[in-house]
Amino acid sequence: DLVIGTAVAGGGHHLNADYPDPFTYDDKYRKILAAEFSSVSPENQMKWDFIHPEPGVYNFAAADAIVDFAEANGQVVRGHTLLWHSQLPAWVHEIEDPAELRAVLKDHIQTVVGRYAGRIQQWDVANEIFADEWDRGGVRLRDGSSAATANPFIAKLGPGIIADAFRWAHEADPEAKLFLNDYAVEDWNTKSTAYYNLAKELLAQGVPLHGFAFQAHLDLQYDFPTSLQRNMQRFDDLGLETAITELDVRFELPADGVPTPELLQEQADTYQGVLEACLAVEECNSFTIWGFNDKYSWVPGFFTGFGEATVMWEDYERKPAYYALHETL
Ligand code: XIL
Repeated sequence: DLVIGTAVAGGGHHLNADYPDPFTYDDKYRKILAAEFSSVSPENQMKWDFIHPEPGVYNFAAADAIVDFAEANGQVVRGHTLLWHSQLPAWVHEIEDPAELRAVLKDHIQTVVGRYAGRIQQWDVANEIFADEWDRGGVRLRDGSSAATANPFIAKLGPGIIADAFRWAHEADPEAKLFLNDYAVEDWNTKSTAYYNLAKELLAQGVPLHGFAFQAHLDLQYDFPTSLQRNMQRFDDLGLETAITELDVRFELPADGVPTPELLQEQADTYQGVLEACLAVEECNSFTIWGFNDKYSWVPGFFTGFGEATVMWEDYERKPAYYALHETL
């Protein structure tokens, strides 16, 4: 069964005092979140710097609230994320002793995954572990060998730590489906092929890897990833589930802030095209948009001059993209 999800805003660098955590303060936000979605993903609330800010200090309140909300509303949860180079507190970066770093990662995974055992449908165990092709080193693991930001776990412990992370997560919650997740892998390209090869290797080693996920942060200045379905299918053929986990479709904001109907239609077609690809692949079981309202979207804060990437305007009015998704389902 396909679940339709959204990121739950909160804890992001782009949310400031003027925009308090909508999950806590915005009734309309909570109503729509409960009514329109069957899956939720904490946008930041399970990331290291949020949930494990200091050695031995775990801050579960916000993540607990999301998991409780989901349960109360009959929704499933996507856990995000465990092995990632970003939003990782300085104290973790500072650990140089490999044995200590390994123990810290193991404790983190077992503590966080264990806390929500049985209540999380899918976990993004490893996030963005390959660097981009356009980085000087080409597509390769973030092992510190290229100009891309290194993943300190992979750089200091070697690539075998990826398999260990999956094993530890599986021990802590044998029911959760464990995923690799990344951006710029929607098309059949060198980065998605690197993942395909890694996935095959992990499966051959008997590692509990259950799925490959496509973030799908798309941008209308680039062509639609027309090979998405074919690309998803090759992971499906390996026996893996697939998922769309962070879909949004940004564009450069017009000077007057008012996009043309053509632009909104193109955005709607893009949302629809991604959903169609997922619907066409048998084990694509989870389709998640990265926020449902422009007011709380991460896009304007991260991509200067871009925005309006979600399916609803700031006042919750629905865009053509919202209706396009509904018609497709
Ligand atoms: C983003 C959040 O949306 C922001 O609130 C935060 O400030 C930075 O991270 N890929 C991912 C997500 O896997 O975790 C990122 O989320 C977006 C890119």
